[in-house]
Amino acid sequence: PALWAVLPAAGVGRRMGSTTPKQYLDLAGRAVIDHALDLFVADVRIRGVVVALDPTDRYWGATAYADHPKVVRAHGGAERCHSVLNALDALGTHAHAEDWVLVHDAARPCLRPADLDRLIEALIEDEVGGLLGIPVRDTMKRAEPGDRIGATVDRAALWHAFTPQMFRLGRLRAALTDALAANDLVTDDASAMERIGQAPRLIEGHADNIKITRAEDLPLARFYLQQQGR
Ligand code: CTP
Ligand code: MG
Repeated sequence: PALWAVLPAAGVGRRMGSTTPKQYLDLAGRAVIDHALDLFVADVRIRGVVVALDPTDRYWGATAYADHPKVVRAHGGAERCHSVLNALDALGTHAHAEDWVLVHDAARPCLRPADLDRLIEALIEDEVGGLLGIPVRDTMKRAEPGDRIGATVDRAALWHAFTPQMFRLGRLRAALTDALAANDLVTDDASAMERIGQAPRLIEGHADNIKITRAEDLPLARFYLQQQGR
């Protein structure tokens, strides 16, 4: 089966608080999304890349991969799950239901090539697929009303869910369609798979694979890229 990549990039970045959506902010001289795309465009195992963009987007055209033959665009939707589903539909006739899709946030510029390799190698023979993540490090509390602790949650079983998330095209499409039909606006692709009874595998990556979410994440991403020599 072939490998494809999908990058949802249609968000407005409300928590970032900048007028330019965060995926287009400058990071070490290039747009955030360019850093995120680098690995997928360069990877010969990946046959094509779909970016989901806001239909009124006026930033993509000025980025590094706007005219790259390996990259095609799809319309983003109201929520991330709509954007991913539209991008999967855009793969439509080129791809097969059994092909693998790597879904990666455009706002996650510091993914290490070695982590991408580990994910693909670990899952390429897997029945379900899975995602990069890391075990949580802090002691975890469940809050009750009034921000009083109701319980301490066993940390050993808790992970942060990152991207890329790697699933079979046909099943992910069915899972997202099902979630949207139930008005369940899942915030990642694994959640959609879980809803239909699948158990995605957690593959341990590195903590520097952050999603740019708030203003303070940008200098942090710059530091991580520097550390990686990128
Ligand atoms: N995304 C998308 N379509 C949407 C919402 C989000 O393609 N309707 C993308 C974002 O562009 C980002 C990724 O999904 O690359 C992760 O979403 P998130 O971090 O939540 O980005 P935003 O929704 O833009 O940020 P916020 O939630 O703070 O508004
Ligand atoms: Mg969002």
